[in-house]
Amino acid sequence: MERAETPPRVVLGVTGGIAAYKAAEVVRGLRRAGAEVSVIMTEHAREFITPLTLQTLSGKTVLTGQFDVPTGGDIEHIALVRNSDLLLVAPATADILAKFAGGVADDFLTTFYTAYTGPVLVAPAMNSRMWAHQSVQENLAILRSRGVGVVEPEEGELACGEEGMGRLASEERIVIEALRWARRGTSLAGEKVLVTAGPTREALDPVRFLSNRSSGRMGYAIAAAARRRGAAVSLISGPTSLPPPWGVELARVETAEQMAEQVRRRFEESTICFMTAAVSDYRPSKVSQRKLSRGEGRVLDLVPTEDILASLGRGASREGRLLVGFAAETGNPETAARKKLLDKNLDYIFANDVTRSGAGFDVETNILVGLARDGSWRKFPLASKGELAEQILDWIEERRKKGLAFAVTGSVKARSSREEGGKEEAGGALVARRRSRP
Ligand code: CTP
Repeated sequence: MERAETPPRVVLGVTGGIAAYKAAEVVRGLRRAGAEVSVIMTEHAREFITPLTLQTLSGKTVLTGQFDVPTGGDIEHIALVRNSDLLLVAPATADILAKFAGGVADDFLTTFYTAYTGPVLVAPAMNSRMWAHQSVQENLAILRSRGVGVVEPEEGELACGEEGMGRLASEERIVIEALRWARRGTSLAGEKVLVTAGPTREALDPVRFLSNRSSGRMGYAIAAAARRRGAAVSLISGPTSLPPPWGVELARVETAEQMAEQVRRRFEESTICFMTAAVSDYRPSKVSQRKLSRGEGRVLDLVPTEDILASLGRGASREGRLLVGFAAETGNPETAARKKLLDKNLDYIFANDVTRSGAGFDVETNILVGLARDGSWRKFPLASKGELAEQILDWIEERRKKGLAFAVTGSVKARSSREEGGKEEAGGALVARRRSRP
């Protein structure tokens, strides 16, 4: 959906490190790019740069303490949470990363973070030994898994006189990344996103079931990321141990049949569907009402479940909806995934080789290849599922802006015959490239 560009509204958190003085340049860079900037400082940041400087440059009252109430009272605090496209923290100290990761809310910035539901980007700066410390890296991994973006620090001379990794990224890089992330804050406004996630369970008897190793993380991450971008999101989830993502309508189901029913109810009103669930392909032909005894269940009679995604791909309501499938494969995922994309009439499929370390079920990370209906493809190297969710949405949105592979028109079978050459999208440009079929 095209909409008029409004100036991005950025909340800049400034924390107490020597690099805090560079926040002034970040504010100027953001303002020059047309952004509105509201600054929140921690108490320690005030030791390094004065609120007056940042107030003058941003043109807005600078907030620090939890109980700071600017003109207009509390309503403004709430309005700030609701009406911002991005929370950027630059510089971010080891302390603030730990507080964000742990959910500590003891000043205005940390309280804002825990109340804020839009995109968050941090630009850490610290001594290189601190940067390398396991606790800092673990906190960053937690934040990344929640979809928080990180503008990695740079190598160079540090304030303590040492050389190493930990210098705040250049103001220019921070501003460019911030503007990119701020656009994500509203990029799916008006869309209705439907996501399936997790495994299904097909009962054998009151205590046993057939299922698989899916954790649901990829689907939950996509649901959360789409919500952060302003979409209305419904998540149909098989049994998982994950907390419900904020602001997402969650319907819990157990069986493939229940999942199919919930999906059908919402499909027509949705505009984008991500089917990440690992749906059981078969269920026992009958469910015993009493617990089966040893020996009784030695031979299972199974019947196929409905292929939910294939039904949607073939269904009358298919047109005008973006349909995205996922495929867990063992071995080279691309060939099998492309066949599924065509067979199920999808716009995109994202496939992984579950035998690779760091990819697949029940781990925090994944490695994916994304295939589009028009033959384009993109590799998504090892990253947390939270980061991958953002990258998947970015790719689809970039292509949509270029008018590529967003919602079906025409028959995919007819087009597929001339899809011998793959097109890899690199750096935003379409690069034609011959690719031999395996
Ligand atoms: N899917 C579905 N309903 C099913 C099976 C799969 O909606 N009964 C969806 C999944 O959510 C996923 C994609 O289809 O998006 C995966 O397709 P596929 O790989 O065909 O499922 P598998 O069962 O893994 O297929 P196969 O065993 O043939 O590899």
